[in-house]
Amino acid sequence: MHEEAATSLQSQQIDRPTSARAPDGKTGKTLFIQTYGCQMNVYDSERMADVLRPLGYSPVDKPDNANLVVLNTCHIREKATEKVYSEIGRLKAHKDLMAQNGAKMTIAIAGCVAQAEGEEIMRRAPAVDLVVGPQAYHKLPELIARAARASGERLETSFEADEKFDALPTLRAPDGPSAFLSVQEGCDKFCTFCVVPYTRGAEYSRPVDPIILEARGLAQQGVREITLLGQNVNAYHGQGPTLSGSETWSLAQLVRHLAKIGGIERIRYTTSHPCDMSDDLIEAHGEVKELMPYLHLPVQSGSNKILKAMNRKHSVESYLDTIAKVRQARPDIALASDFIVGFPGETEQDFEDTMELVRAVGYAGAYSFKYSKRPGTPASEMYGQVASEVADDRLQRLQALILEQQRAFNAAKIGETFDVLFTGKGRNEGQILGRSPWLQSVHVAGPEHLIGQIQSVRIIGTMPNSLTGELVTAS
Ligand code: 5AD
Ligand code: SF4
Repeated sequence: MHEEAATSLQSQQIDRPTSARAPDGKTGKTLFIQTYGCQMNVYDSERMADVLRPLGYSPVDKPDNANLVVLNTCHIREKATEKVYSEIGRLKAHKDLMAQNGAKMTIAIAGCVAQAEGEEIMRRAPAVDLVVGPQAYHKLPELIARAARASGERLETSFEADEKFDALPTLRAPDGPSAFLSVQEGCDKFCTFCVVPYTRGAEYSRPVDPIILEARGLAQQGVREITLLGQNVNAYHGQGPTLSGSETWSLAQLVRHLAKIGGIERIRYTTSHPCDMSDDLIEAHGEVKELMPYLHLPVQSGSNKILKAMNRKHSVESYLDTIAKVRQARPDIALASDFIVGFPGETEQDFEDTMELVRAVGYAGAYSFKYSKRPGTPASEMYGQVASEVADDRLQRLQALILEQQRAFNAAKIGETFDVLFTGKGRNEGQILGRSPWLQSVHVAGPEHLIGQIQSVRIIGTMPNSLTGELVTAS
C-alpha cells in the first residue's frame, strides 16, 4: 500500500531566509584535537575525529587557524586543569584574529575536566562554545550542529544521501489531481540514527501566505488532494496573517485554512513526530472533513530502553496515549508508522516489545527498516551493534506481522462504499486507478474521463496491495 512513498526520493529545497544560507565556498573545515592525560583520552580523541569527519572536519596539526578546536582534558591533577584554562586563553587570541578575518573558531572542551567543571568553564571562559563530558563525546555532532545553527552558520556535511531514509517525496508539477506541497523542512530532534538534522539543517516553516497561494494555484490546475510535506511536518510553525498583524500558525490552523480553498477536497500531511501531535491537530482530525483519516506517525521501536537510546523523546506509553486520542477524535483513522530493527543494544525482548506494540496498535501499513549505521551519527558509535543476520530475521518477522495487519485492514473494506479520487489509468484496458480516504489504491472498471474526479465506489475485493471496486454513481 505504500509503494509510492517507499521509493520517495530527493525533496526540492524550499526557500529559507538568507541568513540561514551557506556562506559561499566555505567547505572543508579543519579540526585540531589536543589530548591530555591517559590512554583512554587518546582513544576518545580518535573516536571524536571519526564522528566529526562526516560533518566536514579534517584534522590539522596546529590549533592556530582551526575551525574547531577540541581540548580533550584530564582531571587527575589540579595543574592539568589550570593548563586547560591557560590553553583556552591562548586559543582565544587566535579565535579573535580569525573573527577579524571573517572566519570562525569553535572551541569545545571534552573529557574529565568538562565533566567535573562544565558550568564553571562556560562561566570563566566565555570563548568556549561547548562542553562535552567523556560519556557523551558521541553527542559532539549534535552539539556542533546546534552551535553552528545558533551562530547562523550552515554545516557542510559529507553524509551520503540515502534515499530510503533521508528524503521526502519529490516535489513536482501536478500531473494529476493529487500533489505534494512542501511546508516545512529540516529537523531539530536529533534522533541518534538519523542524518537529517545535519543534512537538512534546522527546522524551518514556510510562511502561510505563499503556501495558500501555491495551494490555490494547484486547485486551479485541477488538484483535488494535497499532501503537506515536511521532515517534521506537525512541528509546523509558520508566520501567518491575523486580523491585527501576524502570528505563528500551527499545522492545524494551516489545515483548517487550506480546507476552505475551493477545489481542495482532501488534505494529508507527512511525516510527523509523536511529540508534536498537538491537541489542536488531533481535534482537526475530528472536525475537518477534508483532512483524510490517515496518519503516518513513526514510533521506531516498542521498547522504552531503545527509544531512549534513539533520543526519540517519547515513550511507548505516550505514543499509545496519542494514538488513543487520535482514534477517539477520528475512529476510522488508518495508522501507519516507521520501525527500525536491530538498533544497537536491541535484545530479543526489546524486539518482542516492538511486536507487542504493533499488535496493540493494529496498523494499516508501515515501513520497516534494518538499522543502518550512518558514520558520524551518535548511534554508529554505540555499543551492542546487532549482528546483521539477527536484524534480518527480526525484520522478516516484523514485516510478516505488518503485512498480516495490512491485509486485514484492506479486507475489512469489502462491502463498504466510499469516495475514491481517481488519479490515473489502471493497469488493464478499461480500468481506472484511484485512492481511498485511507490511502489505499483502488482499481475500478470505468471511463477515463473520471480521472481527476471523486466518485462513490463499492469495494468488491482485495489484491495484495490494493482494493477492487465498482462505481456506484457515474457522472
Ligand atoms: N537506519 C535505519 N533506518 C533509518 N531511518 C532513518 N535513519 C535510519 C538508519 N540509520 C528510517 C526511520 C525514519 C525513516 C524515514 O527512515 O525509520 O523514520
Ligand atoms: Fe530524523 Fe525524523 Fe528523528 Fe528528525 S525526527 S532526527 S528526521 S528520524
